[in-house]
Amino acid sequence: MDVAKAIELRRSVKAYDPNHRISEAETEKLLSLAMLSPTAFNIQNWRFVLVSDPELRKQVRAVAWDQAHVTDASLLVVLTADLKSWEKDPARYWKNAPQPVQDYLVPAIGQYYQGREQVQRDEAMRSCGITVMTLMLAAKEMGYDSCPMDGFDFDAVGKLINLPQDHVIAMFVAIGKGIKEPWPRGGQLPLGEVVVQNRFG
Ligand SMILES: Cc1cc2nc3c(=O)[nH]c(=O)nc-3n(C[C@H](O)[C@H](O)[C@H](O)COP(=O)(O)O)c2cc1C
Repeated sequence: MDVAKAIELRRSVKAYDPNHRISEAETEKLLSLAMLSPTAFNIQNWRFVLVSDPELRKQVRAVAWDQAHVTDASLLVVLTADLKSWEKDPARYWKNAPQPVQDYLVPAIGQYYQGREQVQRDEAMRSCGITVMTLMLAAKEMGYDSCPMDGFDFDAVGKLINLPQDHVIAMFVAIGKGIKEPWPRGGQLPLGEVVVQNRFG
């Protein structure tokens, strides 16, 4: 499937076959593709929490507006990010780069993020937003549907998954075999309203 087709066909699907099992190989392929998504300074700050325990899924659903996709989708990924990945052995993010590149970039990472809490959080959301789209498009290409989600109690989910203090939750993505057509598209804004030439007027 070409990329444009996958973009057009991806929709937020809300009903999934609860009996469909996604294989470990498929899951690994999806996540390996998602990990090719870009991150600033290549800090790879996303942490993909796969909620496979059925009991935990039920508990998550209870704090997620009782949305059925939480329990019925084959995969429930809680997209989290490590706010401090930038300071955790950053040399590993550039280990394959030529030495002059490493010498320049590795210290630059700390200089950029040190003491800038808001930037660290923004970066977490940027990285997770980008990788979630990669995941959803890869899923489409592999014959799966998906739904990005933020309709849940973030604090309650954090407790259920033992979210570390220096991590944040960005969203969920449910992935599985859709069993109901999505609603028609809600209605796209005209291009002219969302595209700004050079600067706001
Ligand atoms: C950040 C985010 C959070 C969302 N949260 C939910 C959710 O909790 N439950 C749900 O069913 N859909 C959720 N959606 C899906 C949106 O309703 C959907 O993307 C939008 O209506 C456009 O439809 P489409 O994705 O089919 O093009 C969410 C989408 C995004 C991007």
